[in-house]
Amino acid sequence: MEVICVEGGYPVTGKVSVEGAKNSALKLMAATILAPGVTTLKNVPNIADVHVMGKVLKELGAIVQVVDEHTLRIDTSTVDSWETPYSLVTRMRASTAVLGPLIARFGKAIVAMPGGCNIGARSIDMHILGLEALGVEFDVDHGDIYATAPNGLTGTTVNLEFASVGATENLIMASVHAKGITTIDNAAREPEIQDLVDMLNEMGADIRGAGTPVIEIHGVGELHPVTHSVTGDRIEAGTFAAIGALVGEPITVRGFEPDHLGLVLRKYEQMGIEVKRGHRCITVSRSRPISAVDIQTLPFPGFPTDMQAQTMCLLALAQGTSIVTENVFENRFMFASELQRMGSDITIQGHHAVVRGVSGLSGAEVRSPDLRGGAALVMAGLVADGMTTVLDIYHIDRGYERFVEKLTALGAHVSRKEVPDMEALDV
Ligand code: EPZ
Repeated sequence: MEVICVEGGYPVTGKVSVEGAKNSALKLMAATILAPGVTTLKNVPNIADVHVMGKVLKELGAIVQVVDEHTLRIDTSTVDSWETPYSLVTRMRASTAVLGPLIARFGKAIVAMPGGCNIGARSIDMHILGLEALGVEFDVDHGDIYATAPNGLTGTTVNLEFASVGATENLIMASVHAKGITTIDNAAREPEIQDLVDMLNEMGADIRGAGTPVIEIHGVGELHPVTHSVTGDRIEAGTFAAIGALVGEPITVRGFEPDHLGLVLRKYEQMGIEVKRGHRCITVSRSRPISAVDIQTLPFPGFPTDMQAQTMCLLALAQGTSIVTENVFENRFMFASELQRMGSDITIQGHHAVVRGVSGLSGAEVRSPDLRGGAALVMAGLVADGMTTVLDIYHIDRGYERFVEKLTALGAHVSRKEVPDMEALDV
């Protein structure tokens, strides 16, 4: 079993470049199904979830070629199946992003019902309700969702109960050929959705209003393949910004749009952190104690839930008490429980975490609860006293490319170690 070992107390400073956004790349890969032929995706992160999505596309009959570490050539002219295997959907919920494209292309799809995961039930009821409004009929049998659109899709207005990222994306992709206009009201506004819409419009789609709560999809004929570069990963960038804020030394993060982290950076400035914004980069440092602030996670442009754990790590060492409210997922505080093992003082009350700042953390063996919580535990180890051993690091590998190498290049004493399962438990 691989673990990450972090020796705390060393300076961490310098420059780091982030990859393309995981939460865009996965959907762009799914969207290639809509444009039979060869689409080239650039700035694709070399991470586990991208490899899984590549397997999903191959299962459907596509040819996926790795041109170089960050470039994929995906030929979907050979896609001849509309069924995704349960084994892949359970490994990665984002596999459900093929639902919309398969319905648009074939008028049908069979997708395994995604199971829950560590951060919540993660149902797809809003995806299904929206697609039914467009004329899709659903059956669920033995854990598989059978979707058919016998009369094709007809544009209508879909009101989302919650600004769901995945539901917005599936509805956009499903309706590119629908008759008439599909309007999504209360649409998600994340930058990754803007990136998806940019590529679809480059392919010949006619989608308006991305980035606003109302998106209109005007049905068009066949789409054509393109070459598209994935937008920079704002959450990977935010993770390294949080690390710069934590260690206090200047860290420059390059390769993303600072506006995509607007509220996070403003909140960090309220916490006493210095943020210098540049062209596709920021420099983060701190010369005084972290001030406590209250955080509540919301859909973009609200505070991103994917930055909650990393920010809670900062607040755990702040002067004063902070309230962190998680409004997006029902179970995303497991990171806090692990951080308790390192000496933090956090009380969970439902969707709220009361974080009382402490003067320092101590190294311990901790378990990654999910992708972002795992990265935040490594981050905590950078300033903890002694050694921190992080287990279940497969979560981190799902979304962070060369995380240990990038931290090492900044001066951190971090390494991956292979340990026999039992030994890790004894450490
Ligand atoms: C995307 O997940 C991201 N994943 C998540 O990032 C991110 O945290 C989330 O959006 C919110 O920004 C990818 O893009 C691959 P939602 P998604 O649909 O689409 C509930 C990471 O760490 N819901 O906006 O699944 C859902 O359970 C990951 O990179 C329903 O109840 O998020 C959740 O509580 C974690 N029914 C909330 O809404 C539905 O039909 C938000 O979900 C759909 C969602």
